[in-house]
Amino acid sequence: MTTRILTGITTTGTPHLGNYAGAIRPAIAASCDAATDSYYFLADYHALIKCDDPLRIQRSRLEIAATWLACGLNTDKATFYRQSDIPEIPELCWLLTCVTAKGLLNRAHAYKASVDKNVEAGEDPDAGVTMGLYSYPVLMAADILMFNAHKVPVGRDQIQHVEMARDIAQRFNHLFGRGREFFTLPEAVIEEEVATLPGLDGRKMSKSYDNTIPLFASARELKAAIARIVTDSRLPGEPKDPDSAHLYTLYQAFATPTQLAEFRAALLDGLAWGEAKERLFTLLDNELGEARERYHALMARPSELEDILLAGAARARGIATPFLGELREAVGLRSFRSETRAAAPAKKKAGKTPRFVSFREQDGSFRFRFLAADGEELLLSRPFADPKAVGAVTQRLLASGADALELREDEGNRFSLWLDGECIGDSPAHADGEALDAAMLRLRDAVASLAAAD
Ligand code: TRP
Repeated sequence: MTTRILTGITTTGTPHLGNYAGAIRPAIAASCDAATDSYYFLADYHALIKCDDPLRIQRSRLEIAATWLACGLNTDKATFYRQSDIPEIPELCWLLTCVTAKGLLNRAHAYKASVDKNVEAGEDPDAGVTMGLYSYPVLMAADILMFNAHKVPVGRDQIQHVEMARDIAQRFNHLFGRGREFFTLPEAVIEEEVATLPGLDGRKMSKSYDNTIPLFASARELKAAIARIVTDSRLPGEPKDPDSAHLYTLYQAFATPTQLAEFRAALLDGLAWGEAKERLFTLLDNELGEARERYHALMARPSELEDILLAGAARARGIATPFLGELREAVGLRSFRSETRAAAPAKKKAGKTPRFVSFREQDGSFRFRFLAADGEELLLSRPFADPKAVGAVTQRLLASGADALELREDEGNRFSLWLDGECIGDSPAHADGEALDAAMLRLRDAVASLAAAD
C-alpha cells in the first residue's frame, strides 16, 4: 500500500535555510520514494489568518512555489497545489466545523497563547483574536482529511493540530460513517535530525528572530549573512570546540560525512573563524548555486508557475471533488433527484377549499355566494343589510353542522337553505331531480369540510 504524505507551507515569508533543511529538502526526498504518494501545497488560506498585506501574500506564494520547484520537486510524482485553488477544502472545513467541539479549539496552543498574552497585558482575553485564528485547526484538518493523508511532516508546534485533525476525523466517522471510515486518521511526523537549524545568533533560525540566512540570496548576500554568524573570540591557531559552535551545526546540515570530519579536525586544529566561514560559504554555494539559478529563472516566468500550480490543483480536485460528493451525501446534502416517490411521505392533496364570497349589490345590500372547492356555485344568499349580518349567517351555517341544515326543494329543480325558520339563500337551477339531489349533497359536504377545517 502506498503511504500518502501531505504537508502545507504557510505563505507569509521568504524561504530561508532553516525551511530548506527542516522541511523542503526532506519533503522532496520523501516524494521520490516509490511507495509514497505526496501532496504538498501552499497554505495560502492559512496565510490570511496571520497577514493582511496582499502584496506580501502574493509575493510569498510566488517565492515559495518557485523555491520548491527550483529545489527539485518533481510535479509528475508529487501533487503540488495552492490550497486556495481547491474550493472543496473550505467546503469540507464547514462540514468539519459542524462536528468540532468548541472546547477542543479552546485548547489550541496558538489561540491560548494569544489569550494569555492579552490577559497578561490586562486586555480583553479575546482582543485581536479572529475567528480565523480560532478555527485554524479545523481548516488544517480539512487540508489533511481531504486527501486522507497517513503521514503529515510538521514542526513541533503543529503536532497538536494534527492530533486535533484525528479527533475531528473520528467524530465525523462516528456520526456519519455507518460502518464506513470516511477519513483516515493522520499521524504527525517530526524529522528528528533536521528539526531545527540555528540562526546567525545561535537561536533557532526563524524570521521572528530576524536571524535567518535567505535560501536564494545572491552569492554576495550569502557571504554577508555568513559573516554575521556569531562565534566565540578564539584567535586563529587556537583550537575551537565544534560542538558548541553553531557555525559547525550549520555546516553539518549540508556536509557529507567526509566533509564534516575534515571540518571538525580543522577546527580542533585551530582553523581561523574567518576561514571557517569561507568554507561554509563554499559548501552552501555549491549546494544551492544551481537551484538559485533555477529559482531566478522561475521567478522571471510567473505565468509558467501559474500553469504548473493549476495543473496540480486539477489533479488534486480529481480526488477532492468526488470525495466531497460522498461526504455531502453522508451528511444529508443530497440531490432531490435521488429521492424516490415511495420514500416521500404521502401528502394530502393540496387544493382549494369551499368558500364564502361576499359582495355588494347595486342597491347597497350585501349577499354572499357559497362556492364548492372546484368553484361551482352551490348557493346564492338572500340580501342582507350589512357585511356584519353576512358574517353572522355564515358563522351560524358552519356552527349548525351539515346534517342540521334545512334544505327545501323548490320550483324549477332548485333548493333553498333555511336557518331557524329564515330562508338564507337559493341554489341555481339544476337539470333534473337527480342533479338537484346531488347538488344538495355537495352543499352538505362542502359545509362539513369547512366546519371540520375550522
Ligand atoms: N499550519 C502549518 C504551519 O504553519 C501549515 C499547514 C496548513 C499544514 N495546513 C496544513 C501543515 C496541513 C500540514 C498539514 O506550519
